[in-house]
Amino acid sequence: MLARLYDLPDLDEALARMAAIDIDVRPALVLERPSVLSWVTARFPGWAAEVDVAFARLPAACHIAVQNRQLLGFACYDAACRNYFGPMGVAEAARTQGVGRALLLSVLHAQRAQGYAYSIIGGVGPADFYAKAVGAVVIEGSERGVLEPLAAGRTLTNTGA
Ligand SMILES: CC(C)(COP(=O)(O)OP(=O)(O)OC[C@H]1O[C@@H](n2cnc3c(N)ncnc32)[C@H](O)[C@@H]1OP(=O)(O)O)[C@@H](O)C(=O)NCCC(=O)NCCS
Repeated sequence: MLARLYDLPDLDEALARMAAIDIDVRPALVLERPSVLSWVTARFPGWAAEVDVAFARLPAACHIAVQNRQLLGFACYDAACRNYFGPMGVAEAARTQGVGRALLLSVLHAQRAQGYAYSIIGGVGPADFYAKAVGAVVIEGSERGVLEPLAAGRTLTNTGA
């Protein structure tokens, strides 16, 4: 999907709504890399490599949602490809209270600040979520995507010589 970064909903308002329920949505700190990586590996193992890449940059291209020192969710950018949004995940128990939307806006505003005009939401799952939150639209003809070499049955097996 494609999201316009020059026409985003207000970030401060979304962050204030999170702050009102004691949730801090912010860029992750480099020293938080091990904690975030182990959290993601436990819940969304297929996305650990992209999160690792996001932490290899400065500022870290991974934003997090935290409540009482507990990680509730994460969202990355420029991980699988430049100009990409994602991956993103919110802990099941923390969903439907605006955390996903706040993480999405936090990252998209960061991409805008770095000079992008659009963001490409890769590997879209819940398209309605992105359409509703930021008016993202499907990029026709991109179903196969850039990660096609990792399609089912074509992942590395490490069983070679
Ligand atoms: C998708 C996901 C990040 C949403 O997180 P969340 O914190 O529950 O989302 P929010 O509470 O901010 O939802 C914002 C709005 O989108 C809607 N929404 C949430 N998930 C949705 C979905 N799967 N489909 C359609 N709408 C959705 C909510 O109802 C809410 O609407 P409202 O503003 O009218 O109340 C979360 O469900 C998740 O982690 N899913 C598994 C991983 C995943 O699919 N990641 C995205 C692909 S990279």
